[in-house]
Amino acid sequence: MVTNIEQGKKRFHFDRHAPEYRDRFEAITRDMQGQCPVAWTDTYGGHWVAAGAEQVFHLARSQVVSNDNDVDGARRGYTGITIPHAENPIRSGILEMDPPEHGAYRQVLNPYLSPAAVARWIPFVDDVTHACLDEKIESGGIDFVDDLANIVPAVLTLAMLGIPLHKWKVYSEPAHAALYTPPDSPDRERVLDLHRTMGTDLFATIHEVRQTPRPGLVDALVRAEIDGQVPPDIEILGMLNLLIGGGFDTTTALTAHAFEWLSQNPDERSRLDRERDSLLDSATEEFLRYFTPTPGDGRTICADYDYAGAGFREGERLWLSWAMANRDPSLFDDPDVVDLERKGNRHFSFGLGIHRCIGSNVARAVFKRMLLAVLDRIPDFHCSPDDAVHYETIGIIQGMRHLPATFTPGPRVGPGLDATLTRLQALCDEQGLAEPVTPRARFR
Ligand code: HEM
Repeated sequence: MVTNIEQGKKRFHFDRHAPEYRDRFEAITRDMQGQCPVAWTDTYGGHWVAAGAEQVFHLARSQVVSNDNDVDGARRGYTGITIPHAENPIRSGILEMDPPEHGAYRQVLNPYLSPAAVARWIPFVDDVTHACLDEKIESGGIDFVDDLANIVPAVLTLAMLGIPLHKWKVYSEPAHAALYTPPDSPDRERVLDLHRTMGTDLFATIHEVRQTPRPGLVDALVRAEIDGQVPPDIEILGMLNLLIGGGFDTTTALTAHAFEWLSQNPDERSRLDRERDSLLDSATEEFLRYFTPTPGDGRTICADYDYAGAGFREGERLWLSWAMANRDPSLFDDPDVVDLERKGNRHFSFGLGIHRCIGSNVARAVFKRMLLAVLDRIPDFHCSPDDAVHYETIGIIQGMRHLPATFTPGPRVGPGLDATLTRLQALCDEQGLAEPVTPRARFR
């Protein structure tokens, strides 16, 4: 509800970290879009919120916003993309950089995440997916989060980084748990411990790879030249944390929500299975739009600017809501309905502008391969609504902790996860799967 209007500030109470925001998301979105697609909220020290598609589109691509997280106080003291500000001495890689530094680092990542580079990983993703299903298929029960959607993106990300695959648990649990464990939880200390273990392993990996080159994104970063200099360890660590954060829980969240919806809509699931050649791409984009795994990101206004009834002033904070823009009826017909055939689905789920998700090819490919394998091998899965555990809040990731399902048991087709990872590790080492794909290599 808009409460008052003063000095170019339409005020709207908006707290995306409150459980109410998750529970009443559609009503709050309609309210804001109807009354004030750009509004000021007093939560978290006060900041702007952009909720309309046109406004989010414009602001995300404009020059008046900055992603910079000036952790050393060397520039203008801006605080990056989290609201409230995360007191972290390490910035979140390219996501918290502005041009020209941003572009220089992004170029280092491109050859590893391009469509051609990702296509090379498809058989690997299939093998990990089927190995996960093999672990459960004879029992007739699976937790889609713990037993599949948490594992496949984690193993693939480690492979792309050049980190040994058997370490996936060292990385997967802290990356996932950090997003659903509130600061006052009794489990917080354990999760922080897991994070410290992961950080120690990442530091050790950076040093190992510096000594002994091996293919992968870690190697690319330790050997990069940014403005004539080797990047400092702290920046490499920030980049790796971003790739892990970006690569793991987002794809997990998308997959879990899609499976839950398909279980609730068995006719649509059968149709998707039958018409997969024509529906797979549009269904993937629609799940991305509707569930928006990363609901929004913050910016700092870097120049005074009057726009959409808002008087932005330099230094103020702004929240770009990808999730609310994705439900704007001026851009999407029946935005609160999942339409697997939706045409021209120009959703906001990977962001927009220079920071648009560089992992979108990976995310789409991994999601599709997991979906197809599940449709092939356990097509009659049923998720019990009482046992599904959603993240209590959707301030950072719209995720799920657990999604247990039952299905008609089937036969294994391979030796299971551990043996498969051993074989795939050997394959990565022999074939240099994690090498960059340069344009020359692509045309060979
Ligand atoms: C469904 C899965 C995913 C979703 C919904 C998602 C969402 C996003 C969004 C919204 C942004 C833009 C943030 C902003 O502008 O503030 C972003 C950026 C980014 N994502 Fe993803 N992402 C996903 C998967 C991935 C994967 C698999 C990777 C890595 C392999 C990845 C790596 C990154 C990186 C490095 C950036 C920063 C790009 C830049 O600043 O130039 N993401 N992602």
